[in-house]
Amino acid sequence: MTDGADRFLAATRCEKSDTTPVWFMRQAGRSLPQYRALRRRFSFMELATTSDLCVEVTCLPVDILGVDAAVVFADIMLPLQGMGVAFEIREGVGPVIRKPLSSQPEVDNLRIIEAEEATPYLFPAIRAARERLGRRAALIGFGGAPFTLACYLVEGHGSRDFPRVRTLIHSEPEIWNRLMTTLTEVSARYLSAQASAGADVVQLFDSWVGVLDRATFEVHVAPHLQRLLERLRYLVPVIYFSTASAHLLDGIAAAGPQGVSIDWRLPLGEAWGVIGPHRFIQGNLDPALVLAPWPVLEAAALGVLSEAGGRPGHIFNLGHGVLPASSPEQLRRLVDLVHEKGAGKPS
Ligand code: CP3
Repeated sequence: MTDGADRFLAATRCEKSDTTPVWFMRQAGRSLPQYRALRRRFSFMELATTSDLCVEVTCLPVDILGVDAAVVFADIMLPLQGMGVAFEIREGVGPVIRKPLSSQPEVDNLRIIEAEEATPYLFPAIRAARERLGRRAALIGFGGAPFTLACYLVEGHGSRDFPRVRTLIHSEPEIWNRLMTTLTEVSARYLSAQASAGADVVQLFDSWVGVLDRATFEVHVAPHLQRLLERLRYLVPVIYFSTASAHLLDGIAAAGPQGVSIDWRLPLGEAWGVIGPHRFIQGNLDPALVLAPWPVLEAAALGVLSEAGGRPGHIFNLGHGVLPASSPEQLRRLVDLVHEKGAGKPS
């Protein structure tokens, strides 16, 4: 049997292996009792910023669920600390920025420092997790894409459709451009440093980019994304993640990520038609179906595999993060099903 890391990395090169690799966004938190027990003793920030605890949580799902990749336990907001942006993670709300940005001087004051200085706890955790995982599982590093980071910096908190951001882009395009240029530089350093520390792949979370229309994305976001991906091209394969963004998919592919994560709204076959066969695809089971009775979940998962059509560049995942009420037993069963019925297995 092929090891998880090799199975996963083969898919990122669109090469065949013994079966389809699988992992889940948010696999390390929320639904695992072992994680909840740790959370009773430590805050989220303590878990993420203490290297030993971060390694523990990062590796949990490989043991419990049998997934082929571990994702570093962190948050997209962490590198903002090094930029001099004060924020807190509020229980039940999410990240809240103390002083949302709106003026040129505020954007000019953002600091660009080395990633090792901004998030010193992260890189020892990546080195230790890489060592602990061996060939059992690949290690995925990640960061927020510049647009999604800018959403929090400008809006100040999560939002359904980020109206302040959409106003700023069009009324103050120079401020916007400056902000995106700074965030692109910070992201490039942050993700490169994760690759150097041992992340095999990095995922760029552009969770909220789907709020934009196509023209705004093309003019005000895509050029920055393209520059960021160019900086990473020869260092590490990148998975670009977004949701509700089918209307942007051709522009996303043109920006140049090696792999694209697709949510449940678009069938995988159709998505592949847009991004081209030389890119790998990740996805795309609806996370809500993990809460359904097993026969329903099983049928939906087999449907995803059938949409992938046995192509070698498929990484099975949900279309967004694991919902907190998901049962670990159900997730484990899903992993086993994907391995049993994935590409390359007799049907
Ligand atoms: O839910 C948990 O796993 C608990 C730990 C936690 C994380 N972030 C881990 C994380 C908590 C409490 C946060 C705070 C936070 N940060 C929130 C609110 C809480 C929540 O659970 O959603 C939000 C919305 C953020 C901002 C954020 N972080 C975004 C938009 C993303 C991109 C993914 C997405 O959901 O669209 C993240 C990434 C993130 N936060 C990861 C982890 C472990 C990514 C890695 C992974 O997929 O496991």
